[in-house]
Amino acid sequence: MSDFDSDVVDPVRIDNLNQENRTFAPTPEFARQAFAQPGIYDEADQDRLAFWDKQAQRLNWTSPWSEVLDWSQAPVAKWFVGGRLNVAENCLDRHLANGLGERVAIYFEGEAGDTRAITYAQLHAEVCQAANALAALGVGELDRVAIYLPMIPEAVVAMLACARIGAVHNVIFGGFSADSLSSRINDAEAKVVITADGGFRRGKELPLKIIVDEAVKLTPTVEHVLVVQRTKSDVEWFEHDLWWHEQLAAQPAEHSAQSFDSEHPLFILYTSGTTGKPKGILHTTGGYLTQAAFTHAAVFDLNPDTDVYWCTADVGWITGHSYVVYGPLANGATQLMYEGTPDTPHRGRWWELIEKYRVSIFYTAPTALRTFMKWGDELPAGFDLSSLRVLGSVGEPINPEAWMWYREVIGHNNCPIVDTWWQTETGAIMISPLPGVAATKPGSAMRALPGIGIDVVDAEGTHVPDGVGGYLVLTEPWPSMARGIWGDPERFIETYWQRYAKQGFYFAGDGATRDLDGDLWLLGRVDDVMNVSGHRISTAEVESALVSHPRVAEAAVVGAKDDVTGQGIVAFVILRGENNVDADTIGAELRNHVGQEIGPIAKPRQIMIVQELPKTRSGKIMRRLLLDIAEGRALGDVTTLADPAVVQLIASGMTTADDA
Ligand code: WTA
Repeated sequence: MSDFDSDVVDPVRIDNLNQENRTFAPTPEFARQAFAQPGIYDEADQDRLAFWDKQAQRLNWTSPWSEVLDWSQAPVAKWFVGGRLNVAENCLDRHLANGLGERVAIYFEGEAGDTRAITYAQLHAEVCQAANALAALGVGELDRVAIYLPMIPEAVVAMLACARIGAVHNVIFGGFSADSLSSRINDAEAKVVITADGGFRRGKELPLKIIVDEAVKLTPTVEHVLVVQRTKSDVEWFEHDLWWHEQLAAQPAEHSAQSFDSEHPLFILYTSGTTGKPKGILHTTGGYLTQAAFTHAAVFDLNPDTDVYWCTADVGWITGHSYVVYGPLANGATQLMYEGTPDTPHRGRWWELIEKYRVSIFYTAPTALRTFMKWGDELPAGFDLSSLRVLGSVGEPINPEAWMWYREVIGHNNCPIVDTWWQTETGAIMISPLPGVAATKPGSAMRALPGIGIDVVDAEGTHVPDGVGGYLVLTEPWPSMARGIWGDPERFIETYWQRYAKQGFYFAGDGATRDLDGDLWLLGRVDDVMNVSGHRISTAEVESALVSHPRVAEAAVVGAKDDVTGQGIVAFVILRGENNVDADTIGAELRNHVGQEIGPIAKPRQIMIVQELPKTRSGKIMRRLLLDIAEGRALGDVTTLADPAVVQLIASGMTTADDA
């Protein structure tokens, strides 16, 4: 595990944050009708477990629980002990029984403009067919199913079908390469892969099936590949391949769902850690669904009868799991799902979709907002955005400028903004203003949700005073917390629980500070995890991809500040052999190599060819100095370097290849 990088908590930034004195209270009309009222905090403070007990009752359970929380095996929690339920039944059948079968669950809009409106009854029928089809292929309880799909409704169907039969899904983002895909399939030992011939992205076809064909050559556990027909392009066909539509058509549209224990595994989702090997974060059933559903209703002020909700996240990330699939569907929401990129066929596409579907709740990432800011205010001004009433942000700290732009240009000063902090490991939102309660500040995530315990502490775990930077910790177990790392219980403890074992705190890996009003500001990662456009990528992963190239002797990677993507990947590379190379040529080659090894999201923004790397006497690369160089700052403390002259050498002797 990496050391603390205490410099990351930047005192200058904290000073600036403490000067932020703009606040925006909800209108009295909004506050009056809001799902969450101010009393909710006191209620949770008085009896935290009773509060979660009440939230769990939002769901349908076939057997009640005997105990809300069993923490005796900490840090592996059991929530709603002994309770039984079926997640898919809660997301579908329950709404049909309540007479909501004809309500639209998903408005789907393909990038090319093809549309589908799928009612809860139709979604239910498809999920039943898919559940039957998976069962017919021999997929049973606890078997793992890898899902590698574009943003199409079949992704939701596939996930719910797994949940329905108690299989464990492992969704892999469609931007990952064949190598990343096969390693995730192998780690989870998946029996079936669900993919598509392709998807549409930026006017081109994303050739998913070709990537799967390559990946499954290396995955001995995979018995079948189910292929959704999306682009209808020619694909190579293998013995293990089956068409999704044929398998579903052969099955009845009824399936009686069995219930599972509250702690039955629901899914594994891989995320980057501080080493090269991604972690399979494990989530279970009852607690996860309780917190996903509660937070989706409370944070977004959902009124399922009238709202049209849109979360722009891909199902390949945790946001897509909790706030495209499980939260909204458990709540009976109507939502928009869009396949493509925001700039296809034109840069106003998202705003056009908000106008078309009268979207009222919109949830996106700061990196997207900053991109739109760059594209100009005329674009959103050309569409009717008056249906919007709540705006959400997730994935990285939102800078006050982007926050104000969101409020003014998109929300027309009418919509509360909820800046939501959480992680793959937390499963659901942990820190966020409640939109009818909080007077929000541009850039602050404000406070912990009711029922959630947080603190900002120093390296020893001592609470730091307001106005001082420190490390964010979660002080109490919560229902949607990860139950472990798939196949690696030791790493689960080491990564999150060891550092503050004495206090029993969960270490989040983020820096934070409370301002003098006690409101919380997130300051970014304090470990070797970068956040590029809201995607977590570890420096170690990119470094190991770089050194796997025959020309690379050594590599060090840092996440440098980037106006649009939050952080950009900057790699310092020492080449083998001949050094009189054209930096642009080798830079392009290395970037492509990283794209092949991990996926396009991990391609460095900039590659610097250097002769040496700054190291401490014990041989540890000093990333902080590389970050100073990458961000063009004066060099920090060099006294612990084995050879202080080396940084001058780097700064003066490097050749750089920038991303075109
Ligand atoms: C960062 C995404 C500041 C943070 C849901 C966290 C944020 C990591 C915010 C988790 C936010 C997420 N403000 N930082 N509102 N939301 N982060 O697992 O560094 O993809 O640790 O989950 O994103 O990323 P993950």
